Amino acid sequence: MTAEPGELLDQALRLCQAGALKQAEQIYRRIVVSHPEATDAWNMLAVVLYELGELEEAAYAALQATERRPRIAPYWLSRGNIEMARHQQGEAQASFKRAIALEPAFAEAHYRLGMSYHRDCRFGDAAAAYRDALRFAPSVPEISWRLGEALLSESDAGAAMRAFQDAFAQDPHGVLDRRGCFDWMGRMQFDSLPEFWHAEILRFFQREDLNRAPFVRVALKALKTKRSFRALLESPTSTDSASGPDARNVTAALGDPLFHAVLREGLIADADFEFSLTRLRARLLFDTVLRAQVSLDFLCAFALQCFNNEFVYAQNEREQDEVDRLLRSTESELGALSTPDEGVIRPLLTVACYRSLDGVRGIEAVLEPRQTSSLLDLLLQRTVVEVREERSLRRTISGIGAIADTVSHAVRGMYEQNPYPRWFAVDREPALFLSEWLERELPAQLPIATASTRILVAGCGTGQDAIWLATHIRNSKVLAVDLSLSSLSYAQRMARKLDVRNVEFRHGDILSLAGLSERFDMIASTGVLHHMREPQKGLLAIAGLLRPGGLMKLGLYSARARVSVSAARRLISEQQIASTEAAIREFRQHVLGADSSSALWELRYSLDFYSMSMCRDLLFHLEEHQYGLPEIAVMLQQAELTFLGLSELPQDAVAAYRRMFPEDRLMTNMTNWDAFEARYPDTFSNMFLFWCRKPDHAAH
Ligand SMILES: C[S@@+](CC[C@H](N)C(=O)[O-])C[C@H]1O[C@@H](n2cnc3c(N)ncnc32)[C@H](O)[C@@H]1O
Repeated sequence: MTAEPGELLDQALRLCQAGALKQAEQIYRRIVVSHPEATDAWNMLAVVLYELGELEEAAYAALQATERRPRIAPYWLSRGNIEMARHQQGEAQASFKRAIALEPAFAEAHYRLGMSYHRDCRFGDAAAAYRDALRFAPSVPEISWRLGEALLSESDAGAAMRAFQDAFAQDPHGVLDRRGCFDWMGRMQFDSLPEFWHAEILRFFQREDLNRAPFVRVALKALKTKRSFRALLESPTSTDSASGPDARNVTAALGDPLFHAVLREGLIADADFEFSLTRLRARLLFDTVLRAQVSLDFLCAFALQCFNNEFVYAQNEREQDEVDRLLRSTESELGALSTPDEGVIRPLLTVACYRSLDGVRGIEAVLEPRQTSSLLDLLLQRTVVEVREERSLRRTISGIGAIADTVSHAVRGMYEQNPYPRWFAVDREPALFLSEWLERELPAQLPIATASTRILVAGCGTGQDAIWLATHIRNSKVLAVDLSLSSLSYAQRMARKLDVRNVEFRHGDILSLAGLSERFDMIASTGVLHHMREPQKGLLAIAGLLRPGGLMKLGLYSARARVSVSAARRLISEQQIASTEAAIREFRQHVLGADSSSALWELRYSLDFYSMSMCRDLLFHLEEHQYGLPEIAVMLQQAELTFLGLSELPQDAVAAYRRMFPEDRLMTNMTNWDAFEARYPDTFSNMFLFWCRKPDHAAH
C-alpha cells in the first residue's frame, strides 16, 4: 500500500525538523515522481536541496513549484533564496518582489529582498527593504542589525546607531556581530556616549571568544567621554593631588574594568593616553604611597600594556636608575622569601612596566599559580613562560631553501630582533568555505568556485594571518614561510596555544620558494613584498606557485597614504638615527612633540606608532617601496594576474566611492580607485589590500 502525499509530506517534514535532510529529500522526490502536480512537495524539495547546497537541482524544483502555482508567495521566497545563493541577484530580487506582491505583509520576503540588494551593494534600496520588513516583524533583532549595516554604508550615522541600538537591545546574549559597528564607531568623533553604548562596549571587551585588540579605539573613545578619564588625562602628573575630586576621579579611572581590559588585551594607540600613562608610570616608580594604593589588578594590567607595547614609552635616566635599583632590591627579596607577598609583588610589577620579567633573577619564586590575582598569572604567563617557550621552539622550525639575497638577509636581522606584530587572540567562530569567505571579502563579485584550499602565506611574520586562515577556512591546509625565526617561533607558540594543527611554519626566503613542486589554491602576502629589494621578483616567485584559477591576496604600501611616514624616514636618514630601542623612543618623543602643521603630525594616529617593533617597522625599515594603483596594475599584468578588487575597505570609503562612481557597481576599476585616492589620500593608510587571480588558462 502506498502512502498518500499528505501523509508522506508530514513524514518528510518531521525528518527535516530532525535534520535528516537526505532522507526527507528522498521522500519529496518520491512524491513529485508519483504526483507531479504536488507543488508543496516541489517547494519543500527545493528548500531541502538548497539547504544541502545542491543549488542547480534546487533551482529546478523551485521552478516547478512557481510555474505550476504562481500565486503562492512562499514558493517565490524559496525560489528567490536559491537564486540569491546562485549569485543571480536580479532574478532573486524579482522573485522576492513577486512574493511581496502576493503578500504585502510578508516580512521575510522584504528582509531577503533587502539582503539581495545589500549583496549587490545597493545599500539605499537594502535599507528601504529592511525597514519594510521591520514594519511587519519589529522585534527581529537581525533585521535591525542589517539595517544598521546598510545605513553605515550609506553614511547615515545617526540612523545606523539607532538601528544597531534596537538590534543589540534585543540581543542580550551577543549573538549579533558587533564588530562592524564598533569598528565604525572607533572612527567617529563623539564627546558623549549614552550609557547603553558604554555597557555594550564593556560587554564586548569581556568576551573571551573574540580578538578585541582591533577595537581598542572605540573603547578609548568611550573612556574619554567619562569625567574620571578626563581627570586622568588632564592631570599634569596623573594622580597628582592626593585628595579632592580629581584624585577620586583618577582612582575611579584606574579601577575601570573596560580600561583594564584594554590595557590587557590590546595596544593603547592614543597620544593623550600615552602621555598620561608615561607620567603615571614614573609616579608609581618613585611614589611608594601611590604604589601601595593602586589595585594589584591595575598594576598587572598596566604591566601587560607595557609588555604589549614593548616598553616603548619614554623613560629618562633618573627612571632608569631607579628601575635598576628597584630591580636589584626586588631580586634579593625574591631570593630570600619562600612565598613572595605584596611587599615584593608591587615593586616587581612596577619593574614590569619598564622591563621584561623574563630576565629577573629569582622570578621562578612567583611563577607558581597563586590566588592573589589571576591577572598576575596572566602577566607571568605572557611575559615569562611564553617568552621561554618561544626560545625553545626556535630549534623545531625547519628551513625551506637558502636565504641568499643581501636585502633578505638584512631584513631578516631586523625581524629577528623585532618580530612583527605581537598579537594575542583570534576570533573563535565557525569556519567558512573559501567561497563564502570570498563573498564577504569581495562583495558584489561573481562567485568563485574553489573546492580545495591549500594555502601559502608568504612572509607570515608572527603568524596571525596564517592561523586565522587555518582556523577560519574549512578544510584548509596552510604553509607559512618567513625569514625570521623569532617571528616563526611566536607563530608556532600561538598555533600550539590555540591548538591549530593544519598550519606548518617554515623558515626561508620567498625567493627560494620557486623550487616547490606544489601549487596553491590561495596565496596571501600582506605587508611583505614591499620590503624586498625587487618586489616584482618576489611577486613572480609566488605567482608561479599559484594554480591556474588560484587566488592571491596582497598588501602593498600606498605612497599617497604614507606622506608622513616618508617625512619621518627622510628625517631619520638625514640625521642618521639608529634603530636602537633608545633611539626609537627618543624619535617618538620628537614626533609626539610635533604640532598639527608638521608633516609628522599624522603619525600619532597610526596604530603601528605605538609599539617598539611596529614603530621600527613603520618608520625605521631598511627597505621600503611604495606604490600607486597604476603601478600595481602594471605589476599584476606582468605577473599575469587579474585584479579582482580591494578588500577590507572601511564602510565610509565604500559609500563615498559609490557616490563618486555609481556606474562601477563591482568597484573593481583601478583607475577610478586611483582618482578616489587622489581625492581622499588617507583611504589606504594601512596599505592597499587587494585580491587578484591567475587566469585558468595561464601557463604554469
Ligand atoms: C611587516 S611584516 C608582515 C607580517 C605579516 N604578513 C602580517 O601582515 O602580519 C613583514 C614580514 O615579511 C617577512 N619577509 C620580508 N621579506 C621576506 C622574504 N624575502 N621572504 C620571506 N619573508 C619575508 C619579514 O620577515 C616579516 O616577518
